[in-house]
Amino acid sequence: MSAGDSPEPAASAREAAGTPSPSAAMRIDVLTIFPDWFAGPADVSLLGRAASDGTLDLRVHDLRDWTTDRHRSVDDAPYGGGAGMVMRPDVWFAAAESVWNDLPPAATVGRDGPPPGAAHTVGGERPRTVLLTPRGMPLTQRLAAELAAEPRLVLCCGRYEGIDERVHEQVATDEVSLGDFVLLGGEVAAAALVEAVVRLLPGVVGNEASPWDESFSDGLLEYPHYTRPARLRGLDVPEVLRSGDHGRVAAWRAEQAELLTRRRRPDLLGG
Ligand code: ADE
Repeated sequence: MSAGDSPEPAASAREAAGTPSPSAAMRIDVLTIFPDWFAGPADVSLLGRAASDGTLDLRVHDLRDWTTDRHRSVDDAPYGGGAGMVMRPDVWFAAAESVWNDLPPAATVGRDGPPPGAAHTVGGERPRTVLLTPRGMPLTQRLAAELAAEPRLVLCCGRYEGIDERVHEQVATDEVSLGDFVLLGGEVAAAALVEAVVRLLPGVVGNEASPWDESFSDGLLEYPHYTRPARLRGLDVPEVLRSGDHGRVAAWRAEQAELLTRRRRPDLLGG
C-alpha cells in the first residue's frame, strides 16, 4: 500500500481558535416536561461514553417536580387572550433557582422569592442558562465553542405556545434557536446543542484535531471525504487523494470546500 492509499486526517490549524480545556466534567442540567426524551440519546454513543468517563455530568429534571397543584400544571391561559397556553413563570423560577443552587425541589417549590442563602437567583447572578426558542440567536459552531468553555450549562426546554416573558428575561442568560422553523418544543434543540458542545470537550472525539477540521470552523463547508475501496461500482476516488502529494491534496480540499460553499451557502462567503 502506498502512502496515497491510506486515508489520512488533514492537519488542523483550528486549534488556534481555542480548543476548550475544562479541568473537571462539564455539567449540563436540562429542564423539560419530557425527561424521558433524553434517556436514549444520553446513554448511547459518544455522549454515553463522555458521561461514563467523567467528561460530562448530564442531569435531566422534570419541570413538573416544581409544580404546586395536584394536576402538576406547568401552563396557564395567556393574558390578553388568544389561542394556546403559556408556561408559568412561578414554576420556571422555582425550578431554575433549585437547579442553579443544587437544592432539591422541596427547597424552592411554591416560594415567592429565592431560597435563603441562594448564591444564584432569578434576575441575579446565575450560571449560563440557555432557553431554546425559535426567537433565539442561531446555534452556530462559534456559539457551541463558546458554551463548551463554560464549567456548566442549564438548558430550558419550552413547550406550548410560549413561555411567560419574565422567564425569557430573568431566567435565561441566552436564547438559542436551532433554525428558522418551529419545533414542538425545545427538546430536539437542546439535544442538538448538547451534542455540538460535548463533542468539543477534550477527549470526546478521539482525534483532538478533528472537531475543528470541519464545516463552519473555518467559515466554509467541509470538503468531500473518501475511504477504501479506491474504485466501487465504477466510481473512483479522485486521483489527487491517492497521489501522496500533500500539497496537492490540501489545495484540492481547499478548492472543493470553496466550491461547495459557493454553491450551497454563499451567505457564508458574505455574498
Ligand atoms: N422550540 C421550538 N422551535 C424551536 C427552534 N427552532 N429552536 C429552538 N427551540 C425551539
